Amino acid sequence: MIQIRFIRADGTEQTIQTAPGQSLMKAAVDADVKGIDADCGGSLTCATCHVMLDEPWIGRLPPAIPDERDMLDFAASPVEPGSRLSCQIQLTPALDGLVVRLPASQY
Ligand code: FES
Repeated sequence: MIQIRFIRADGTEQTIQTAPGQSLMKAAVDADVKGIDADCGGSLTCATCHVMLDEPWIGRLPPAIPDERDMLDFAASPVEPGSRLSCQIQLTPALDGLVVRLPASQY
């Protein structure tokens, strides 16, 4: 199991324990993390799974593929250098302790 800490725009936090081998979006939705809507279910067509990461986590992930970067243009909240779509982040043991910031809104 790995631990992931979510920080909402209002400063409230939620920490979950989850298994690697799935997307960050799925782990968050299954744990009922408020602030990740994931309307398309992970098919990279909605941008409502937008999250922001900071270093060192940004550098520990493979870079976003072009389709993910394109879809981030449709994110409701401002996109930051560490913005990603959580359905495209595969959880691995190396991501234990990951800190994820959530945007103020997904719509
Ligand atoms: S869940 Fe729709 S783009 Fe990630």
